[in-house]
Amino acid sequence: MTGQVALVTGGARGIGRAISERLVKRGMKVGVGYSSDPTSAENLQSEYGSDRITIHQGNIGARGDCERVFDEVINAHGRVDVLVNNAGITADKMLTKMEVDDWDRVVQVNLSGTFYMAHLAYLHMAERGSGRIVNISSVIGEQGNAGQVNYAATKSGLFGMTMSMAQEGSRKGVTVNCVAPGYIETDMVAAVPEKAIEKIVSGIPMKRLGRPDEVARVVEFLADPESEYITGQVYSVNGGLHM
Ligand code: CAA
Repeated sequence: MTGQVALVTGGARGIGRAISERLVKRGMKVGVGYSSDPTSAENLQSEYGSDRITIHQGNIGARGDCERVFDEVINAHGRVDVLVNNAGITADKMLTKMEVDDWDRVVQVNLSGTFYMAHLAYLHMAERGSGRIVNISSVIGEQGNAGQVNYAATKSGLFGMTMSMAQEGSRKGVTVNCVAPGYIETDMVAAVPEKAIEKIVSGIPMKRLGRPDEVARVVEFLADPESEYITGQVYSVNGGLHM
């Protein structure tokens, strides 16, 4: 993987940060996407150096931002070998309280945003005859969750997107896979009410939250050039929560 280039959306915090760090430690150059506050991205860049990590602001829910960020990474590093579609948001509410805007925002970022980035990467990779796209879904996409109708729909949607892109990519040297994390120690999970988390953890066979790096190691494996015969798959990393 040395000398190859990755683009990781939401790559400065949580699972995305663990992924960026793993890929950079494998000798890759990493374009790290972030949406608003640059602090975490700047910290990551100063830790590894601006020759190995470049940082790129953009909202993946806006196609124009995706095009700009993709171009920035190409300009900085010359190509993109690996795209990790990690950025995502929640707007958890029971259906009785969910507004149309809660649905629209989550679908726009998690589903449309992932498509925009994957589409750009696919066109670039298919032309070059090689590439790896890894979409970060969720256990919620596998089993649903009360209070997350919007989020679950987007994360299930990524399975269909992944399988369809994988079928098209299989003759172009582009693999497309999903990783489906369970509940991982991130800001997103930290925002869940304490009581809800206790209930969730008691339902996880391993009785603990996952760590970001436990997800990142699977992404690293799928991003590896040697993983070329693996495509259209979902790799779950959830402590046994969903089997
Ligand atoms: N099934 C059925 N009904 C449920 C339920 C469940 N699992 N959980 C709650 N309810 C019911 C409650 O009993 C309650 O009913 P009554 O009004 O009749 O008593 C009603 O739904 C409202 O429940 P809350 O009091 O919890 O409602 P709220 O409006 O205060 O909060 C919520 C709703 C924001 C969704 C809150 O319950 C919550 O945050 N839940 C956790 C959601 C969650 O797991 N999010 C994961 C985020 S992390 C992530 O998404 C990353 C990833 O990929 C894993």
